[in-house]
Amino acid sequence: MRYALSLTIAGTLLAQGCSALWLLPQARNFIYIVPDGFGPASQTMARDYVSLLQNGENPKAPVSMQLPADRMVIGNVRTQASDNLVTDSAAAATAFGCGVKTYNNAIAVDDDGQPVGSILEAAKGEGFKTGLVVTSTINHATPACYAAHVADRNSYEKIAEHEIGYSHPLGPQVDVLLGGGRCYFKPKSDPTSCRKDDIDLFGYAKGKGYRVMQDRKAFDELKKGTAKAADLPYIGLFNDDQMMYEIDRKLQPEKEPSLLEMVETALTSLDRATKWSFRGYFLMIEASRIDHAGHSNDPVGHLHEVIMYNDVMKFVREWIDKHPDTMMLSAADHECGGLTLNGFNPLPLKDATMTTEHAERLWKAYNGTDRTAYLKSTILPGYGLGNLNDTEVNTIISNNNLASDLSSRISKKAGVNWSTGGHTASDITLYGYGSGWRGGNLKADMAGNWDNTEIPGYIEGILKVKMSKVTEKLRKAGSAWVGKRDLNSHGHLHEH
Ligand SMILES: *[C@@H]1O[C@H](CO)[C@@H](O)[C@H](O)[C@H]1NC(C)=O
Ligand SMILES: *[C@@H]1O[C@H](CO)[C@@H](O)[C@H](O)[C@H]1NC(C)=O
Ligand SMILES: *[C@@H]1O[C@H](CO)[C@@H](O)[C@H](O)[C@H]1NC(C)=O
Ligand SMILES: [Zn+2]
Repeated sequence: MRYALSLTIAGTLLAQGCSALWLLPQARNFIYIVPDGFGPASQTMARDYVSLLQNGENPKAPVSMQLPADRMVIGNVRTQASDNLVTDSAAAATAFGCGVKTYNNAIAVDDDGQPVGSILEAAKGEGFKTGLVVTSTINHATPACYAAHVADRNSYEKIAEHEIGYSHPLGPQVDVLLGGGRCYFKPKSDPTSCRKDDIDLFGYAKGKGYRVMQDRKAFDELKKGTAKAADLPYIGLFNDDQMMYEIDRKLQPEKEPSLLEMVETALTSLDRATKWSFRGYFLMIEASRIDHAGHSNDPVGHLHEVIMYNDVMKFVREWIDKHPDTMMLSAADHECGGLTLNGFNPLPLKDATMTTEHAERLWKAYNGTDRTAYLKSTILPGYGLGNLNDTEVNTIISNNNLASDLSSRISKKAGVNWSTGGHTASDITLYGYGSGWRGGNLKADMAGNWDNTEIPGYIEGILKVKMSKVTEKLRKAGSAWVGKRDLNSHGHLHEH
């Protein structure tokens, strides 16, 4: 009898133990990385470039190195939207951020314009800390889908309000916001504002306890996330518009931090803030501007943004090795530019020290009297085209279309072709990393081909959170607050 009783108790304990284990999160922290507009050929371009530089620059020598992301390939992802085989970033991020297939332009709302909860909001609701670190404007489509809900991605002012909690039904959801888009957080009385109203979102954020940073100097006070100043929550926006492309940022590093610096800071402060709690953090990182360079068909910008993405992947992998209760997945939202590498030799790209965006900025700012001389002495060599002859220089002047003239000339030199200035339907690569048994589980669970909507369900299982709980709460607030769908607009397939 006693024996039987103890057996029963043991059995119950065992059963409970197992179910308790089942309910336990597999990891405390999850990092999701989006290289926006990054297709398979983007990685090939960067890998061949880096390995040729390391290989005596001989295009005929065999090359077989891996970039950091290459070491973490686990599958690939289908990307189509509900209304188009070619997705935009909004429908894509609603898919991998909220698990719902929707129309191009939709920011975390479904096909019926009803709000859907994101994985970030689900984590926040369960006591996790959360972060968004991007190089686009913070209210651009990808970060928006994690903490805003609007029927039309162009509602940038509304998205900024949601992201900081000003008009989000659940209040502030994001503890760390780093990126561009500063002008949307300033009232229209400020000459650098891009709002049409007097709402002062930086002021609101301060009232909610956020530290507000608007330049690199304030960012440096966080001391890579180790300083008291890096206590959560904080928002740092370093450019009124998109942040600078990495290669352009390097020309004036005192102006803005790099994506890598922001990632290190965010991770260190999120880690400090959750050190003693059962719940960790969810962080979304976006290498946003790979896409923008794809839209401009600018191989120089594209290349250096992809290299930065790989630098971030390397940093995060090493971070996870030191913090093994953390897991990571990474996948683009879609390919951009229809990049192909026929007649490929990336070496001509090495002479470029700026993107076409920066070249155009200089060109517009030039106020001297000899534009041709300026083009020859500064712009062309800066973009790696220092040896054009006078006929070609004059053609560029008379075309009056500097950015596209530059990018098409260097693309030709490097044997790079673009089939579009928009997105394509191509599948994109899925990367992931976990340390030890977690890495083994991640590969066993996620190897293969996925629809983009299936991604966040995996993260739900790891962290033991539920997006449907958030959806339910959001819908209690009705749906008028998400605004109306613009039926004449089909997403930014040909813009950013
Ligand atoms: C011309 O450009 C230079 C260099 O950007 C600048 O310092 C200067 O103020 C400009 N001059 C005028 C008259 O705009
Ligand atoms: C300038 O370069 C173009 C393209 O390489 C070539 O076709 C043209 O003949 C050159 N013109 C002169 C005057 O050298
Ligand atoms: C692609 O690149 C090759 C080699 O530079 C060039 O001859 C061809 O015209 C390009 N095709 C397109 C569609 O731009
Ligand atoms: Zn795009």
